[in-house]
Amino acid sequence: MDISFATPASVEAGSWVVAAVEGGALLPAALAADKASRGALNRALSFARFKGAPGQMVEVLAPAGLAASRLLLVGLGKPEALDEKELETIGAQIVARLQGTGESTATLQIDVPKGCKVKKAELAAHLAFGARLRSYAFNQYRTRNLEEYERKLTSLTVLTPEPAAARKAHAGLAAVADGIFLARDLVNEPPNILYPEEFARRARARLSGLGVKIEVLGEAEMKKQGFGALLGVGQGSARESQLVVMQWQGGRKKSAPIAFVGKGVCFDSGGLSLKPGAGMMGMKGDMGGAAAVTGLMLALAARKARVNAVGVIGLVENMPGPDAMRPDDVITSLSGQTIEVLNTDAEGRLVLADALTYTQRRFAPKFVIDLATLTGAIVQALGFEHAGVFANDDALVRRLQAAGRYTGERVWQLPLDPFYDKMIKSKIADMKNIGGPNSGSITAAQFLKRFIEKDTVWAHLDIAGVAWQDGEQKPTVPSWGTGWGVRLLNRLVLEHYEA
Ligand code: BES
Ligand code: MN
Ligand code: ZN
Repeated sequence: MDISFATPASVEAGSWVVAAVEGGALLPAALAADKASRGALNRALSFARFKGAPGQMVEVLAPAGLAASRLLLVGLGKPEALDEKELETIGAQIVARLQGTGESTATLQIDVPKGCKVKKAELAAHLAFGARLRSYAFNQYRTRNLEEYERKLTSLTVLTPEPAAARKAHAGLAAVADGIFLARDLVNEPPNILYPEEFARRARARLSGLGVKIEVLGEAEMKKQGFGALLGVGQGSARESQLVVMQWQGGRKKSAPIAFVGKGVCFDSGGLSLKPGAGMMGMKGDMGGAAAVTGLMLALAARKARVNAVGVIGLVENMPGPDAMRPDDVITSLSGQTIEVLNTDAEGRLVLADALTYTQRRFAPKFVIDLATLTGAIVQALGFEHAGVFANDDALVRRLQAAGRYTGERVWQLPLDPFYDKMIKSKIADMKNIGGPNSGSITAAQFLKRFIEKDTVWAHLDIAGVAWQDGEQKPTVPSWGTGWGVRLLNRLVLEHYEA
């Protein structure tokens, strides 16, 4: 979708979108539209139950006296509640509505209502960002009835008194949208297409041109270095495991980077501890953490963020087979700690263990945040609206919570405690890879904590409930791959870590 910004001018084609606030009062552009249509909007309103609630709409087709194909009046709700996130939602709702009509062009003219704290240019930029997020579609594998899925709305103009400032604000958000779309694509791709090497190729293809340094470690190199935990998971697969290291140097030369680590299980069958059929469906999305890290790195580079950031993703396929890891195996991680593998389906923590060790030892980062579709238990606990966050640093948690409220990608803290750590004691090795039947997300986090070195500031995001979704839950997020985490972490970086 082409998005542009311009100063107010008469709308010569397509849909003209204007707004009202809670209670139904028309904003200036809507009053102008009503006047230009000789009262058509107010006449329509007298037959509608329009209250100006957020996202509520009234439509006038082929308004007499206007060149526009339709007038669309949209409710903004209470001005005090109209923040960036709400504007994105409304931008997305407008696009959703117009996509349903077959419209190809639209012009948004939405004034900042009195009492709303968002600045003019930001209002325009966030409406456009929401509109763009809504325009995402994944139709790569369809060959029939393509017109049924075609996105006809291809051009959007946002009218604003400050087009240059809006363009600038939107450029950063467009970079974030690119990162989100990459993450969504990676999650949506089927696992026969997107296996570890293909994931690594795509990361390189999309990021190296933006100035991100990419290194890929294959199995031989990882074996030499001692990645016994990550390689153990990939051992049953015909596909080669990979570790991808992405470095973006946008900050001061010598300053320590911030680090993001992602679980990239391109397919999780459970391994020899095989998942039942229904539980295996959707496990192409078990690389959602790695997808988010890759999308975030793209966003940071594309908007030239003034920060040094590294992304490290462990890419494997968890499969049964003659060479697969057995329940009862003991493996040696890159950290030197040994792990008794009692369930090969608790594989994500093994992949992360080595990726975390590698990241800390090589980069000594300011902090490390890992993202992983780690446990079914987090879905039981929090459902689809919050990711779980575990951390050894309360300030980092508060920053993540604030970024979550701003972006709508919310997090909820769960505890770490020596009490839970006892649950992963092994009879013969340094630890086992499962806890008991209860508090599964916490014992998984305790396991990861054993690979966090003294002094490393660390947060773990369990995104099993939010990395993908069945059906559409929010106007800005389509069915399946959500790209969850790109917006949250981009906001965290923007707010706190840029020079
Ligand atoms: N990838 C799964 C977790 C998962 C489950 C993600 C459902 C998304 C939706 C993970 O590798 C896994 O299998 N975890 C096990 C751990 C158990 C064996 C200790 C689980 O949650 O059942
Ligand atoms: Mn698993
Ligand atoms: Zn998994």
